[in-house]
Amino acid sequence: MTLHNSIIRQSNPHLPFGDRQDGTYYGKNILSVKQFNRADLTFIFEVAHEMEEMVRRVGTFDLLKGKILTNLFYEPSTRTSSSFTAAMERLGGSVIPINDVRYSSVSKGESLPDTIRTLECYSDVIVIRHPETGSAALAAKYARKPIINAGDGTGEHPTQALLDLFTILEELGHVDGLTITMLGDLKYGRTVHSLARLLTLYNVRLNYVSPEILPMPAEVIEEVNAKNISQTVTTDLAKVLPETDVLYVTRVQKERFEDPEVYEKVKGSYVITPELMTRAKDDMIVMHPLPRVGEISMEFDSDPRAAYFRQMEYGLYVRMALLALVLGKA
Ligand code: CP
Repeated sequence: MTLHNSIIRQSNPHLPFGDRQDGTYYGKNILSVKQFNRADLTFIFEVAHEMEEMVRRVGTFDLLKGKILTNLFYEPSTRTSSSFTAAMERLGGSVIPINDVRYSSVSKGESLPDTIRTLECYSDVIVIRHPETGSAALAAKYARKPIINAGDGTGEHPTQALLDLFTILEELGHVDGLTITMLGDLKYGRTVHSLARLLTLYNVRLNYVSPEILPMPAEVIEEVNAKNISQTVTTDLAKVLPETDVLYVTRVQKERFEDPEVYEKVKGSYVITPELMTRAKDDMIVMHPLPRVGEISMEFDSDPRAAYFRQMEYGLYVRMALLALVLGKA
């Protein structure tokens, strides 16, 4: 990063993707899906396609040779952490993995700003997952290097939403006109908060199906409503399943519950089985950010509509694209 760019970032650390002042993605943070417009998505997905092609042809290449990513995870992760690692290594870069902050100076009481200031001395981009909403934005406030939000509490998971949208496009060929049903823990599930917001860039219908105590937050519903997107809230999956083009299943997030008994009561509210899915369209898809803990039966995995394992691979290409873009190499 040049001194000039460093000064721009310090004066405006939240410079959005969708409002590029310098015609480039170089040095930008990825904090929320609210940063993106449709032109951004088209461009990111074009780059993701190029990444997919290159991985198929050569496996690993040197686009980000010499660049270093810090993966800073204050919460557990399998997919996000390892796909960012794989993305960086496929691009020829390297990774500082901090996948368990108990073994870092965080356990001695170091503040998030100081941890960020430290790690940016050693790396070119920082991916952060943290249990508090707004933590990625806080990190960006103190950083001179790009910060990528890999999940901030129950807030957002923007790179997951980007890969979710890429999955829909790859699997169904379009987004406009689709009915997308989000199922499960819509209160605590940050992936659905980001995806619902991102889908407002398209002409879609959204159904929210959840136990009564785990509804989509009013704040998200209001934001989506302001974009004139049709939304239906129900506890009855059978009511909306036949019209659904994308069924986006989420796990009930045990770790967010204060009372374990309440979790036990709602954890098995919905289970996707082959029998249930006979009521769904033949050309729809089932997605899940994973991990799953029983909400999709393993018997359904061999159904061609089960897109959740393919979804993970799409995520690699999208994250390769994002790293290349924020590091000025795409
Ligand atoms: N989808 C997702 O965020 O998975 P991990 O928690 O394994 O990163």
